[in-house]
Amino acid sequence: MQFSTKRGAPEMRATPCIAVGVYAGRKLSGAANALDRAGQGALQEILRRGDMEGKSGTTLLLYRVPGVAAERVLLVGLGEEADLREREYREATRAAVKAAQETGAGMLTLCFGEIKAGRRDAVWKARQVALIAAECAYRFDSMKSKKAEPRPLARVELLATARDASAAVRGLSQGQAIGAGVSLAKDLGNLPGNVCTPAFLAEQARKLGKEWKLEVEVLERKEMEKLGMGSLLSVAQGSRQPPKLIVLHYAGGQKKAKPLVLVGKGITFDSGGISLKPGPEMDEMKFDMCGAASVLGALRACAELKLKINVVGIIPASENLPDGAASKPGDVVTSMSGQTIEILNTDAEGRLILCDALTYAERFEPEAVVDIATLTGACVIALGHVASGLYSNKEALARELLAAGDEAHDRAWHMPLWDDYQEQLKSNFADMANIGGRPAGSVTAACFLSRFTKKFDWAHLDIAGTAWKSGKDKGSTGRPVPLLVSFLMKRAGKG
Ligand code: BES
Ligand code: MN
Ligand code: ZN
Repeated sequence: MQFSTKRGAPEMRATPCIAVGVYAGRKLSGAANALDRAGQGALQEILRRGDMEGKSGTTLLLYRVPGVAAERVLLVGLGEEADLREREYREATRAAVKAAQETGAGMLTLCFGEIKAGRRDAVWKARQVALIAAECAYRFDSMKSKKAEPRPLARVELLATARDASAAVRGLSQGQAIGAGVSLAKDLGNLPGNVCTPAFLAEQARKLGKEWKLEVEVLERKEMEKLGMGSLLSVAQGSRQPPKLIVLHYAGGQKKAKPLVLVGKGITFDSGGISLKPGPEMDEMKFDMCGAASVLGALRACAELKLKINVVGIIPASENLPDGAASKPGDVVTSMSGQTIEILNTDAEGRLILCDALTYAERFEPEAVVDIATLTGACVIALGHVASGLYSNKEALARELLAAGDEAHDRAWHMPLWDDYQEQLKSNFADMANIGGRPAGSVTAACFLSRFTKKFDWAHLDIAGTAWKSGKDKGSTGRPVPLLVSFLMKRAGKG
């Protein structure tokens, strides 16, 4: 999908399809009014027939509107003018792109510059257009023998005023970069477990490194043994696929500037191990590497945006399978930190691989560490599929991430990390157990991780409910790439 901006009067723009907004009560936006005047009231007359009220999310496609250079006019309902917030703006954009995709236009000119989105500026609005258009164009058919026809919409153009033109250009290119990161995360998430193995993830990281000049190292089992990553390795020991610890460096900042570290859970398939999961929907556990995918997507966007910061991505990658060699409930392992862990449930494997990756992060003397993990079913129960669970040992970092999620419409909700919950992790046989019982399952998982993050500012995103969709739209969402990139952009003093 290509994006561009153009200046000029809407009625003069000779384009296959021009989209203009209509507020509730058939009230024309400025651009719609311009078309109407050019056609001597043609739009008003059509609206009077009652085919479009201006309700949010509705569209009406018109051909041959007199006085208008465009081949098609797409009226897009915006709802009440006074109620126009981010959500309505995004909804209208999505409706316009989807409607244009159903036509043979091939190109859409959007006249949304004047449309309010709460208090968001022109850069934000253009960024959303690019992101939403990329989202609407996304398809995953690499595993089908017959590829889908490409979506007919190849280009989206923003009609901007002289004042907004440069902001629109910037916003579009940012949205395009973030959108490419989201698509990468979606592709990796959607790939099946027999293709997307730990070794495959490592290869993809290397490929990304070549393409975007990232330094990439992959630690093998031997090196992890030397480092004493007994916890991570205990998860991998039931699998025939060798585990990988993938480390990527994006160096956009000054040499001495401390890096931000992103750690992504990379379980390429989670059967539960010996504590086997029930059968239904087990296929969805191929998505258990979506944290890892979001790290790769965010790093790609970082590189394309040329952010002036240093970022390290760490991906512990493994399968979690039952096997004669697999770890068993009751096994005790020693983590890289030296703390011992009683594995009471082999299905709580995410924290077991993350804890060693978090200890490994210490060596980069991080500015802050954010881990991203499809960690607990309990988080889905707590927050559903709307918000990711956010935990942090640093209030200011939590606030920053919450704001980043709001701005990117990829929201998180702050959850408690109080010491009171730590008691649930008590073990009679080791320093801690890897599960804390049914109550507050997402919180106790975060509490477990907090025992490995004492040396730096740290936040944890539980994306179990947000990383993919189930049912007929089953597929990876690419979340929380938008949140992460928004956070990184702010840290880099951009956006
Ligand atoms: N990957 C799962 C978490 C998960 C489950 C995400 C369902 C999305 C949907 C994780 O490894 C897991 O199995 N967690 C267990 C922890 C429990 C054993 C303490 C869970 O949530 O059931
Ligand atoms: Mn599990
Ligand atoms: Zn898991």
